[in-house]
Amino acid sequence: MGFIDKLFGNSTKEEKTMGKLKIGIILGSTRQGRVSPQVGEWVKGIADKRGDAEYEIVDIADFKLPFLGEADAPGIGAWNEKLASLDGFVFIVQEYNHSITGALKNALDLARDAWNNKAAGIVSYGSTGGARAAEHLRGIMGELMIADVRVHPTLSLFTDFENGADFKPQALHLDNVNAMLDQVNAWSGALKTLR
Ligand SMILES: Cc1cc2nc3c(=O)[nH]c(=O)nc-3n(C[C@H](O)[C@H](O)[C@H](O)COP(=O)(O)O)c2cc1C
Repeated sequence: MGFIDKLFGNSTKEEKTMGKLKIGIILGSTRQGRVSPQVGEWVKGIADKRGDAEYEIVDIADFKLPFLGEADAPGIGAWNEKLASLDGFVFIVQEYNHSITGALKNALDLARDAWNNKAAGIVSYGSTGGARAAEHLRGIMGELMIADVRVHPTLSLFTDFENGADFKPQALHLDNVNAMLDQVNAWSGALKTLR
């Protein structure tokens, strides 16, 4: 890139993404037949249109994490490195027995510093929009020093999924997802100055 281009504010693709926040969209479920990838891709589609951050899907299942204390596995280091590379998170949360999944709790427990002083939003689903699981996650985030934002899109297994399996979100959720991302980005940027 030449001096003239720089003078007139033209920038390369690399320069355009360099200063952007990195936000991980974390899939909280790992079971076979799970619907979380559909929900995660939907959030990423909305997020990518904004152009304000670099969004990526982070699938806990890819890391083959052992249960905490059970074994040493390369996935634990890779998981911590992935989290350390991110400035903020959107948790895709599904309600299992009125709480978050065991897989998500284990993944939360397997890192500490890499979570600290970052922001997060929640998109949840369940019979009551996954609200009870989301509130449990907020408590856990307090301990991990993750600043959870207020706006929280809640998806219903009855009205946003067909047969509880095919994700067909109602249009009304779009504004809420964007409002949540506004808050995640604002706080992720602010907290970056602390780290
Ligand atoms: C072990 C288990 C427990 C569940 N408990 C609840 C529950 O307490 N409340 C609820 O709304 N849905 C509950 N569900 C339904 C899930 O929210 C629903 O199956 C959802 O699709 C799970 O997300 P996933 O497909 O990404 O795994 C439960 C599902 C499982 C597998």
